[in-house]
Parts: sequence; structure tokens; C-alpha cells
Amino acid sequence: MEKKDIDWEALDFGYHQTDYSYVCDYERGAWGEGGLTTSHTVTLSECATVLHYCQEVFEGLKAYSTQDGRIVCFRPDLNAERMEESARRLIMPPFPKERFLEAVREVIKANAAWVPPFGTGGSLYLRPFMFGTGDTLGVRPSSAYQFRILATPVGPYFKGGVAPVRIIVSDYDRAAPHGTGSVKAGLNYAMSLWPHEMATSQGYDEALYLDAATRTFVEETGGANVIFVDFDGRLVVAKSVSNSILPSITRRSLVTVAREMLGMEVIERPVRFDELGNFAECGLCGTATVIVPVESICDYDTEYVFNGGSDEMGPVLGKLRETLLGIQEGVIEGPEGWVVEICKA
Ligand code: PLP
Ligand code: COI
Repeated sequence: MEKKDIDWEALDFGYHQTDYSYVCDYERGAWGEGGLTTSHTVTLSECATVLHYCQEVFEGLKAYSTQDGRIVCFRPDLNAERMEESARRLIMPPFPKERFLEAVREVIKANAAWVPPFGTGGSLYLRPFMFGTGDTLGVRPSSAYQFRILATPVGPYFKGGVAPVRIIVSDYDRAAPHGTGSVKAGLNYAMSLWPHEMATSQGYDEALYLDAATRTFVEETGGANVIFVDFDGRLVVAKSVSNSILPSITRRSLVTVAREMLGMEVIERPVRFDELGNFAECGLCGTATVIVPVESICDYDTEYVFNGGSDEMGPVLGKLRETLLGIQEGVIEGPEGWVVEICKA
């Protein structure tokens, strides 16, 4: 199969329309047949619930080319399960896991020419999403929905690739205690646009959120979980005191990689902002970010600097990143079932 004529190494994390998306409608109490489409636009009633009450959930996962000529994707079963959970929280009919996995497979296969070649640092990002299409005017769930998957080739999330990023603590909150912070729903991201704008306009790369109730504990950024390495080389993972951190598949995978493959001690616990001086390394992790090192976190006149302020990733996060990417790209054998083969490249 001939690849598209693209400068793969120059890709950023942006939308490039590919050949196929996947679409399936829910009407009169049942999901339809669904299938691939070459249409990349959506026509909606002006009264659709997604437009007024943000009844929408989404996912993010990547397909990779491996060194030995296959196209694979990473733990799509966990995306399917998380999307079912997200849908339930927003009173939407879950798109069944087996159908989700089949749709992922179909859309990757159909867009195989868009999967960046091995060694370019790129991947095919899949964005499954689902939204209320019914014209319900009162604040009630829709009776009609659309599930779609769009595919787009991507490069690094941050402009600097894996260069360390600088973060500022947001004065605003991302998620209410016992709210929807742990749900992958578009409404949480609308909340984060203003704080993100504030952060970047002050010269930072990202905003960090603290727990909304006490503003004591570190939660996450608008698009990634936060992980730390202490001076004894242990991986410390920030746990929410109010169930408002998104359960990152990357973070859960890193915990397993650290414990079971690298023999590291892992501690999952609430992390106070005022103890950040106890950490040697800090990183952001997620599907889009993979692992990006954090150079510093600033809150007014307090600044914590990690890895000695170096412009390179620290050794422990570097090892974790190399191992995780190695598994995702089929170079290192990971735990059973993590890497799912889709087709030949
Ligand atoms: N936190 C937020 C708010 C996110 O949007 C994401 C991205 O999906 C993550 C964390 C990382 O989650 P995952 O590793 O499942 O992509
Ligand atoms: C992802 O990592 O897949 C995300 O969805 C994060 C962000 C781009 C919203």
C-alpha cells in the first residue's frame, strides 16, 4: 500500500482530513448498522442537545506503524470501556464495546495510507466521539445520537516535541468535587479554554489545576495527567481527593510498566502542591502527549524546578517513555493484549 505524500516528520498535533471516518446513528432506541463514510461534515438540527447542553463524550487513541511492517493500536478496549462509562454519566446510550473495537479496526484499515511510517515519530490519532442530535429544548437528554470516529495523522502535542514544558497553576478550577472531571466529556474542555489562554498569554505552556475544594492537591492539566519521580527513584502518581482526575490509560499503563517491567516502586496517592520540592522529575502523560517532561511549575512567587531545570527529559521519565513507546511501536514486548494488530502496513 502506498503511503500519502506527506512530510511525516513535520506533523504537529493538528487536524488533517483523511479518506474515511466512521459513523453510526442511534434512533428509536437502537444503534443503526453504521459504517465508513467519506463525508467529514455533520449536519444537525439547530436545537440538537450537543449545541445547547453539551451532551457529548469523546475518546483519543493512536495507531502506529511497527518496525516489522504492521499497523497496531494500543489498548483500544480501555477506550471502549471508558467511553461506555462517560456515555452513562451523560445519559447517553453507550456504543457497545465490541462495536467500538470493530469500528476502530475498520477506520484504521481504511486509512492505512495515512498511518505515519515507523521511525518518523508520528501516529494516526483516532478521535471517537458521540453527541446528542435530537432537538430537545428542555434540559433533558436527547433521544437521538451520532457516534463517529475521525482519524488524523499527528506529530507531537507540544511544539517543542519532548522539550520540557513550563506550567503555571490556574486560579480557576477544571472540575468540581463529585462533578464530571473524571469523565471524558467535551464540557470539561470548554471549562479549560480560558485558563489555558491565561497560561499561554503569560508565556507558559499549560495550566495546572488543583483540587477545587481545598486547592491543596495537584490534579492534572487540561489534557494530561501529572506524574512525579521522587529523589529515591520512585514513581509517584497524583490521585484525586475528589474523583475529579481523568483516569488516563497512559498513566495506568505507565504504572504497570514501572512496576512490572522496570521493577520500580510506584506510589499512587494525593500529592500536595507544597511538597513538589520533594520531586526530582515531573511529567505530563496522555495519549496525545505520551510523556512530556515538566521543567517547572509556578504559582505566583513559588516556583518548583525539576530535573535541575535541564532542557532534556530526566533519566527515569526517559526510561519510562522509551519503554512505553517501544511497546506501542512493537519494538518491546509489552503485557499480553496491550498491542492489537490491525493489518499489514
Ligand atoms: N487528562 C485529560 C484531561 C485528558 O484529556 C487526557 C487525554 O485523554 C488524559 C488525561 C490522558 O488520558 P489517556 O492517557 O487515556 O489519553
Ligand atoms: C488525548 O490525549 O487523547 C486527549 O484527548 C487529550 C487532548 C488532546 C484533549
